[in-house]
Amino acid sequence: MRRGAAYNPYRPTNYRKRDPTTVTALTLSTSSAAALRADAVVVGVAKGAKGPVVAAGAEAVDKAFGGKLADVLETLGATGAEGEVTKLPAASGLKAPVVLAVGLGDVPAKDDGYDAETLRRAAGAASRALSGSKKGAFALPIEDVAGAAAVAEGALLGAYTYDKSNGNGGAKDGKSAKSAKNAANTDKKNDGPLAEVALVGGKPRDKAYKAAVERATALVEEINRARDLINTPSNLLNPADFAAEAVAAAKEHGLKTEVLDEKALKKGGYGGILGVGQGSDAPPRLVRIAYTHPKAEKTLALVGKGITYDSGGISLKPAGHNETMKCDMSGAAAVFATVVAAARLGLRVNLTGWLALAENMPSGSATRPGDVLSMYGGKTVEVLNTDAEGRLVLADAITRAGEEKPDAIVDVATLTGAMVLALGNRTFGIMTNDEAFRTSLHEIAEEAGEPSWPMPLPTHLRKGIDSPVADLANMGERMGGGLVAGIFLKEFVADGITWGHLDIAGPAFNESGPFGYTPKGGTGAAVRTLVRLAERAADGDLG
Ligand code: BES
Ligand code: MN
Ligand code: ZN
Repeated sequence: MRRGAAYNPYRPTNYRKRDPTTVTALTLSTSSAAALRADAVVVGVAKGAKGPVVAAGAEAVDKAFGGKLADVLETLGATGAEGEVTKLPAASGLKAPVVLAVGLGDVPAKDDGYDAETLRRAAGAASRALSGSKKGAFALPIEDVAGAAAVAEGALLGAYTYDKSNGNGGAKDGKSAKSAKNAANTDKKNDGPLAEVALVGGKPRDKAYKAAVERATALVEEINRARDLINTPSNLLNPADFAAEAVAAAKEHGLKTEVLDEKALKKGGYGGILGVGQGSDAPPRLVRIAYTHPKAEKTLALVGKGITYDSGGISLKPAGHNETMKCDMSGAAAVFATVVAAARLGLRVNLTGWLALAENMPSGSATRPGDVLSMYGGKTVEVLNTDAEGRLVLADAITRAGEEKPDAIVDVATLTGAMVLALGNRTFGIMTNDEAFRTSLHEIAEEAGEPSWPMPLPTHLRKGIDSPVADLANMGERMGGGLVAGIFLKEFVADGITWGHLDIAGPAFNESGPFGYTPKGGTGAAVRTLVRLAERAADGDLG
């Protein structure tokens, strides 16, 4: 029997979300790094053959140190290694009281310049180090628009902090979420993000520079929206809450949404989503969030795994494996963020996001190992392991997405621990039913600065998910578990549709310390890749 879904005694009644789009402001500055009023001026330092080397962009700062900034840094123990941060008091002649030197790694080969990812990471590390400050003047080696875009992205991504007041009911005294956040900023426990980034050497009157900054700002605000959703504890973000977030954002950005609640899911025969969600007091949802452009030539469907908490269900996860499972909706968060970003950027493409939202819990009403589900579209699946739930909700959503005959479907999911074992914590796996698309997705991810790797879908693994009682089983061979999951999903892709699957179980949630522009917790993995994919589709090029 299903229990009442509406009342959750653990949900604070004064629960209020912070404004997820509140982020660091970014401006292009024509002033010299020496003349900018800021809390700190950020310079780059590279690892030279004979010690640290001050990077281009910092000439005015070096001059204030009598041309001896590299020596001063070396004295302080700086080497220029990637990610290294050295703070020192500014020399007279500088308006900022502090110089923050951030390591860039090896000096690039002649004429190469620093690559985008190096700049992104350095800017991110600097922003993190300036958490809680008002303004940073970034005088990093920006040689062109791409360099400015990279520093902008990195600085904004690195500035992110999760507002913990989001987890304790927000403003207790009825103040707005924003003022609660400002109050929290004075609290030592929560410094809040660096408030303002000035890019020294940017060209504010140059259209291309302006466009790059606008793109970076919209992109990062949406990545930070995804991070906020991922970091929100599961008791404060159930499937209905997530759906409400999507509806609210859609309203703000002129997107169309459709939300299937448990009744509509039942009526539509969405046995995968219902089967996964039926153990929870918080019922599942399927959200369709669509952005359309009147001149679009391509239509992309993005499908996100949105398990707001993955306990494993009756095949319960042991302690040690469930503490971070609020992150199991990272795929849906990435899809949501991408659709909103595409709308804000006005991309000439149609993007349909499908958020497959459910909470995977054990209870008297939960799906049992051995149960057979009748999926959307009519296939049947024997659930051998209720912890292999992501593929079940995705299967329904992929089938539904395929009915609209998009040019391609890409699903994004924290799908398997096996992918984490294979590729580690920072790299996502790419699987497709089309070789050229696999290569494109990998290239696109590279372009976006996200580590990924193509993985195969060996046909011999298919028989492992045969079932004596259903069309398929939801689990097969343990070896190559990430590929087995991909092979399962492929069964639900309509004939003739190009399909890609991104298993982001590794990079979606950072359990160790922050690095570069990557915070602890939700990372927003895959958003940059998906936005880049949408941009390519807008150019008529889907690979
Ligand atoms: N959400 C997990 C996968 C996961 C693991 C995400 C670690 C992030 C970090 C998924 O639902 C799961 O439990 N997968 C099982 C599948 C198995 C039972 C076939 C796994 O990978 O162990
Ligand atoms: Mn699971
Ligand atoms: Zn899961």
